[in-house]
Amino acid sequence: KIKACIFDLDGVIVDTAVYHYKAWKRLANELGFDFTEEDNEKLKGVSRVASLNLILQWGDLSKTDAEKEELATRKNNWYVEMINKMTPDEVLPGAKEFVESCENAGIKTALGSASKNSRTILEKVGIAHLFDVVIDGNKVSKPKPDPEVFLKGAEELGIAPENCVVFEDAIAGVEAAINGGMKVVGIGSPDVLGKANLVINGLNEMSLEKLNKL
Ligand code: BG6
Ligand code: MG
Repeated sequence: KIKACIFDLDGVIVDTAVYHYKAWKRLANELGFDFTEEDNEKLKGVSRVASLNLILQWGDLSKTDAEKEELATRKNNWYVEMINKMTPDEVLPGAKEFVESCENAGIKTALGSASKNSRTILEKVGIAHLFDVVIDGNKVSKPKPDPEVFLKGAEELGIAPENCVVFEDAIAGVEAAINGGMKVVGIGSPDVLGKANLVINGLNEMSLEKLNKL
């Protein structure tokens, strides 16, 4: 029986993936190269440092740790500038409604995100109050597909992993949920997220009925 839902943030609750993409692209361009939207898929769900390492690899550049820190900070400053301007209408269709319907049905809710900026985003779009527990990049050390972020969420909610469902748009996130012994609903394309128990286009297609059939 499902007792808790754990939601990824970027790409599930809000479409911040476009802001991450813009900021990383700007950084790559300043370093003298570019990367495609297809490559960008590989950055979803991946931590800030790991994303930077991938991008440097694509540009065939090697940097010292100090230089990497400066580059990651530069990217994050542009990203923060963009998320600071976010408004409540940037919550993805059906996301707020589905989280609310969980709460009304007595199902616990948590956020499970790799982002260190999740607090800012939740507050800017006005949904911080909707989650019983928030686990984000400031609280975890092992990146998805390690299940740490979701297991911590389940633990703080006091619900066993097998009674949790994770909602994820990234391959690494779907794998993290499976590695944690949880059910998982993929948000996006079945071609990419085929390992999930169910794949939908967005939370606007989700319902308590579908949840109970997982
Ligand atoms: C994930 C995003 O949620 O958070 C990744 O999908 C991002 O693209 C990661 O790199 C870390 O985010 P932040 O905000 O801490 O740089
Ligand atoms: Mg995501």
